[in-house]
Amino acid sequence: MNVFIKTYGCQMNERDSEAIAGMLTKEGCQIVDHESKADVLIFNTCSVREQAERKAIGKVGFMKKLKKDNPNLVIGIMGCMAQNHGEELLKTLSHVDFVIGTGQLHKLPEVLTSILEERSQLALLDEGCEVLTSMGSHYKMPDSKPCQAFIAVTRGCNRFCSYCIVPHVRGREISREINDVVEEAKELVSSGVKEIMLLGQNVAAYGLNGDTKPPPKGTSPFADLLKELNEIDGLVRIRFTSPYPSYFNDKLIDAMATLSKVCHNVHLPLQSGSDRILKKMNRQYTAEKYLEIANKMKQRIPDITFSTDVIVGFPGETEEDFIKTRDIMNNVGFDNAFIFKYSPREGTPAAIMEDQVQQEDKERRNQLLLQDLEERTAEHNENLVGTVQEVLVEGPSRRNAERWSGKTSTAKVVMFPPDEETERGKLVKVKINRCTPVSLFGDLI
Ligand code: SAH
Ligand code: SF4
Ligand code: F3S
Repeated sequence: MNVFIKTYGCQMNERDSEAIAGMLTKEGCQIVDHESKADVLIFNTCSVREQAERKAIGKVGFMKKLKKDNPNLVIGIMGCMAQNHGEELLKTLSHVDFVIGTGQLHKLPEVLTSILEERSQLALLDEGCEVLTSMGSHYKMPDSKPCQAFIAVTRGCNRFCSYCIVPHVRGREISREINDVVEEAKELVSSGVKEIMLLGQNVAAYGLNGDTKPPPKGTSPFADLLKELNEIDGLVRIRFTSPYPSYFNDKLIDAMATLSKVCHNVHLPLQSGSDRILKKMNRQYTAEKYLEIANKMKQRIPDITFSTDVIVGFPGETEEDFIKTRDIMNNVGFDNAFIFKYSPREGTPAAIMEDQVQQEDKERRNQLLLQDLEERTAEHNENLVGTVQEVLVEGPSRRNAERWSGKTSTAKVVMFPPDEETERGKLVKVKINRCTPVSLFGDLI
């Protein structure tokens, strides 16, 4: 049976799609790279903003035509939007055969068997932790990088930021056993993986059993996990995303500074620079606290780079609030930022707050932050011209195959002409001779 999987949303969803593909290939299915070649179409969806849902619904709607030509085609919706809208999707999209929520994805093989036996619409939406048992299977999707792999270490989120649908669609936060994670990493490394990316909606809460209070002083189960992984022979780099700022205590910062494989780049979601808005967002830190954490990391790890997520136009955000966000962003000096226009999500507290911000203000604020970001990254990259950077080679660049590309530990993209010895997964030294705001260019030394 040929299966096509289309993934929307974040890296956790990408990882789920790999696990789904892993499960299905074990059952004898093949993963194909185009919907026209498939007997089964799976859409692994996202609900984080309205746009994400609209995109997936549009695409699935379009599949009606394929199903008309091939009535045996099986179509399923999985992931966060499946969890969010459940059976309602089967009504509005009558050509869809099944919806499976985020807690039941391990049931997919059974669901496919039962649908092939008896064609009737089916929805599986219960929350459950058995899903963790399916998380270990890996399948390299056609577009994934050969020497890198994702490992999900937590699932779900207990933080309930007031704008966010994730805790509602991904369920309660659970952590995997440390030994499971380490074993999975070892297996990946023995299959050629050099860099692992640890994933969790609230990844630094790893091992805290869903407690939303940051760990007691001097303890960090997440730092303990990093330490174990750092010991794995043959593993070159460890990254992680996304940590909530309040979990960066001295123990975790110390682990980042001293463990040689942990990369010098951190994605630290800011969301807003205004304490008033942070409070309304139910984020448990102030702008000052955020800066203090970032500055501590800069002190301990001088070449560290930061990326972030920011929301503009949260209900009640005034020009004054926005300026605070702008200031703190310029102060930290992010090397990358995902800037989102607030999108009301039904069932979250922020969706019914008063003072929703006009779309044109969201657009304008979004543009201003993007301009600032480009200026900052251009400055940072200029400063790296003339330096020598250690780069983990990823492969030929997509745009120009004569160039190869890779990343520094600080997550900078570096382009360079390869030599005979250049191969994926190798660490090379590149002397940087020019840059753009997004990439560095140089020659092997
Ligand atoms: N767990 C991650 C975030 C997952 S969602 C974390 O907390 O770091 C990714 C980003 O989407 C969030 O950081 C936030 O900036 C943005 N986001 C979430 N809900 C949103 C909404 N309703 N409107 C706009 N952006 C949103
Ligand atoms: Fe959403 Fe907040 Fe959880 Fe991140 S920490 S997934 S923004 S609720
Ligand atoms: Fe989207 Fe679900 Fe990720 S809502 S951002 S795919 S956790």
